Amino acid sequence: MTAEVTYDDALVARDLVKSYGGVRALDGVDIRLRGGEVHALVGENGAGKSTLVRILSETLTADAGEVRTTPDTRIAVVSQELSLFRDLTVRENLFPYDPPRRLGLLDRGAMDRAARPVLAELGLDVDTGVPLGELPLADQQLTEIARALLRRPGLLILDEPTSALPAAAVDRLERVLRTLTGRGIAVLYVTHFLDEVMRFAQRVTVLRDGRVALAGARRAEVDVPELVTAMLGGSPPPPARRARAEVDLPPPVVLSEVEVPGRLSDVTFTVRAGEVVGVAGLQGAGHLDALAVVCGRTAVSAGRVDIAGHGLPRSLREAVRAGVAFVPSDRKRYGLMVDREVWENTTTVSWLALGRGGVLPSRAELVRRTADLTERLRLRGGPHDLVARLSGGNQQKVVIAKWLATEPKVVVLDDPTRGVDVGVRAEIHRIIGELAAGGAAVLLASTDLAELTEVCDRALVFVRGRVVGEVRGERLTERELAVAMQKGVVGPGAVG
Ligand SMILES: Nc1ncnc2c1ncn2[C@@H]1O[C@H](COP(=O)(O)OP(=O)(O)OP(=O)(O)O)[C@@H](O)[C@H]1O
Ligand SMILES: [Mg+2]
Repeated sequence: MTAEVTYDDALVARDLVKSYGGVRALDGVDIRLRGGEVHALVGENGAGKSTLVRILSETLTADAGEVRTTPDTRIAVVSQELSLFRDLTVRENLFPYDPPRRLGLLDRGAMDRAARPVLAELGLDVDTGVPLGELPLADQQLTEIARALLRRPGLLILDEPTSALPAAAVDRLERVLRTLTGRGIAVLYVTHFLDEVMRFAQRVTVLRDGRVALAGARRAEVDVPELVTAMLGGSPPPPARRARAEVDLPPPVVLSEVEVPGRLSDVTFTVRAGEVVGVAGLQGAGHLDALAVVCGRTAVSAGRVDIAGHGLPRSLREAVRAGVAFVPSDRKRYGLMVDREVWENTTTVSWLALGRGGVLPSRAELVRRTADLTERLRLRGGPHDLVARLSGGNQQKVVIAKWLATEPKVVVLDDPTRGVDVGVRAEIHRIIGELAAGGAAVLLASTDLAELTEVCDRALVFVRGRVVGEVRGERLTERELAVAMQKGVVGPGAVG
C-alpha cells in the first residue's frame, strides 16, 4: 500500500512496525502531519512515542512500513534526552552543521546575528559565549529548541520539550509554535502534559502499546478524560490522597539563619517527620539551593543546619548516610548507569545507605527488593533489564526506585515526575504520601506548580535567596504560588 501525500501534508507514515529484540515498540502505526498544524503525540511511558519520532526523523529504520515527505521538507528534532555538548559554548551548540565562516574562520558575529532573533523569540537571554553546561537545565532545553529552529525546518518534532521548562518559558514556546504554524510549518509535539495538548495542538494522536489508540483527532472533538482513557485503556487512576501522620519528634530538617554567599540569606525553616513541604521560586530564587544544603551539596557560611540529627552534611555521601534520599531532576547527569541492569542501579545507593552499620543484603535479596519496587512503580522491564533499553519515563522511575530502596528519613525531590505519564505521576504522588505517612520528612521542588499544590502540606516561597512566606491549606493554589514567586509577597491569611 502506498501512502498518498497531498499538497498540505508535510509527512505521511503508514503501517510502521519496529521491534527491539522481543519488544514490539511499534505495531502498525499510521500518522499524517499537515503543514500549519501542531499535532500532539501522547501515550504512557514506553508506548512508542520516541521510537516513532526516531523513525520519522530517520535516526532509526522501521522493520516495515513507509514514511513519505514532500521533497523539500526539512525535519528538525528536539530529542527527549538533551543532545547538546555541555563543554561547548551556546553559540557552538547552535550551529552544529555548516556554521557561518569568514575567510575560513568561524564567523561569531554572523552566528550571533542569526541566533539573536530566535533566542529573543524564546526569551532566552544568555551570553552565547558561555559553555552550555553552565546554564540551568531549562535554558539548555531552550537552546536545543533554538538550534532546531535555526535549521528552518518544514517539520519540527519536539519530544517532551517542556518537561524541564518553567511556566513562563512554556508560554513563550506556545507563542513560537503559533508563529511557526502561521508560516505553514508542521509540528509534531510529544508531551505528557495534557493541558498543553488542549492549549497548543490542533490534532492529537494517542499511542498505546505501540498501536494508535486515537488517530489524529481534532482537538475540539476530544477532552482530557477521553485522552487519558485512550492512553491507559481504562478509567484514570484516582488522585493521591493520604492520611497525615502526626509525629511528635525532633524535626528531621532544621535550617536556622542559614547563609550561602550569593545564594541564600537568613533562611530558616523546619520540616517535621510526616510532612511534605514544597519549595517554590523563580529560577535562581534560592529554593534549589536550600535543597542542596539539605543534601550536603552546598557549603554554608553561617547559621545552623541539622539533618536527621546528624548536623550539617558536608557531602552528598554524608547526607545519604544520615538518611537523606535525593531524586534529582537531571537523571542523565546524576541519576543512572545506563549500561547496567536495573537492579544494579537501584541498589547502588542502598549499599551506601544501608551500610550505615547493618549487614549488607545478598544479591538475591537486592534483586527481590528491586522487583518489589519496580512493580510498585509499574516499571516496564524487570530487575535484569539494561537501563539503556528503557524508555525515558521508565528510566526516571529507576532513579526514584533507587532512592526509595534506601528507606530514607528525609526525602528531597527535584521535579520527580518530569517526563512520566499521568498514571505514574499519580503513583509517584502516592508513594510520596506513603513515605510521609511512614514518618519521612519530604522536601519537594517542581517546575509544575500544580504538583506542589497536589502533594504538599505547605509550600515555602523563595525570592532572591530569602524565604518570603509560606502558603498552606486552601491558599495553596497555583495562582497564589505564582503571584508570591513573582512579587515576593504572600497574600493575607498566609502564615509568614
Ligand atoms: N534501544 C532500545 N532497545 C530495546 N528496547 C527499547 C529501546 N528503545 C526503546 N525500547 C523499548 O521500546 C518501547 C517504546 O519505547 P519508547 O522510548 O518509544 O517509549 P516512549 O513512548 O517514548 O516512552 P516515554 O514517555 O517514557 O519517553 C519500550 O518498551 C522501550 O523499553
Ligand atoms: Mg520517549
